[in-house]
Amino acid sequence: MSKTLIETFSKKLIAWHGVSGRSGLPWQNNRDPYAVWVSEIMLQQTQVATVLERYPRFMKRFPTVKKLAAADIDEVLAEWAGLGYYSRARNLHTCAQQVMQDFSGKFPNDPMLLEQLKGIGRSTAGAIAAFAFHEKAPILDANVKRILARLFAIEGAIQEKIVNDRLWDLATALLPSNSEDMPVYTQALMDFGATWCTSRKPVCITGEKKCPFVKDCQANLSDQVMALPQKVVKAKSPEFDCDMLLIRLDNAVLLQKRPSKAIWGGLWSLPESPWRPRTTVNGRSPKALKGLLEAALPDEKSSVMLQSLGDLRQGQQIKHIFTHRRLWMQIWEVHSLKSLELTSSNFKWVPLNQLGRYGLPQPIKLLLQGLSLARGDDLKK
Ligand code: ADE
Repeated sequence: MSKTLIETFSKKLIAWHGVSGRSGLPWQNNRDPYAVWVSEIMLQQTQVATVLERYPRFMKRFPTVKKLAAADIDEVLAEWAGLGYYSRARNLHTCAQQVMQDFSGKFPNDPMLLEQLKGIGRSTAGAIAAFAFHEKAPILDANVKRILARLFAIEGAIQEKIVNDRLWDLATALLPSNSEDMPVYTQALMDFGATWCTSRKPVCITGEKKCPFVKDCQANLSDQVMALPQKVVKAKSPEFDCDMLLIRLDNAVLLQKRPSKAIWGGLWSLPESPWRPRTTVNGRSPKALKGLLEAALPDEKSSVMLQSLGDLRQGQQIKHIFTHRRLWMQIWEVHSLKSLELTSSNFKWVPLNQLGRYGLPQPIKLLLQGLSLARGDDLKK
């Protein structure tokens, strides 16, 4: 490994940040660990532009860890709606409660303790410790892995333990000597990976800008930039079909709360059939639709419900792509002829103009927004 690069890396990177890094973002230059933690979780799988819009709103709604811990999970999920990856919102809520109970409401500064908290991995623990407490803790997200794999021409898939361990060692060895530099250094690493040493268009290849590490980068020197880090070939994600019931009663729709462990866990959605692997033959017979009603609705209600429903009408088919699977949702629209008292608290008739109070999966929100707009309601809060 190049000794000189180990010694000069942090200074060069911080200098790069002064000219080309991101600054002035609302979560920067903030030593409140709560504010730092929320921003890091939100930024994990959401683009900066979206976080810029949603982060201030979240902080206004839940300004302290105490307020977040005391909130109802439904409120948190509703505030998170549209950001995706809802386990982040459920983990935020649980983590806030852990901080209240186990740490008297104060986030610990030790990254090893931060990592014990729900939803905080080793890299996020490092980021929080660096930004809020100026701890000399490394980060190693996908962007940083790419930078290091290129700089030191590390072969092997980054998912492999031996490669991952090596990258953590390098990330630790490269830290600046002065702990006061930790926030700017950590931000610089994130920014450099996100904007210059990108996966598909690194500046050394596009020639747009002059990378400060052209002469140090082993991948650049050996013409391997686009080959590193090595990619593992991913299997095509499996596809599923499901049917969803859009049951309307006057101005209301029937919503079902999803189980917390499922996809879109804890959000309110339309009653749905079990998913089945997608086959080329699509479409359902009326007999199968009866089965669907029975499968999607609570046991004790399905037969009563069936009698009170009008004809089923085939509605839109919506495709939704998750990280590891694709789902085709066939909507079946039906009017309920009378109101049924629903015993299960997991079912609710929700008036279209009150949908904004519920955390809904994004495609379902868009579908229902379409209905609301047709009626002149406003789904937004
Ligand atoms: N992704 C994760 N944390 C980030 C941060 N602090 N700034 C920009 N992108 C990020």
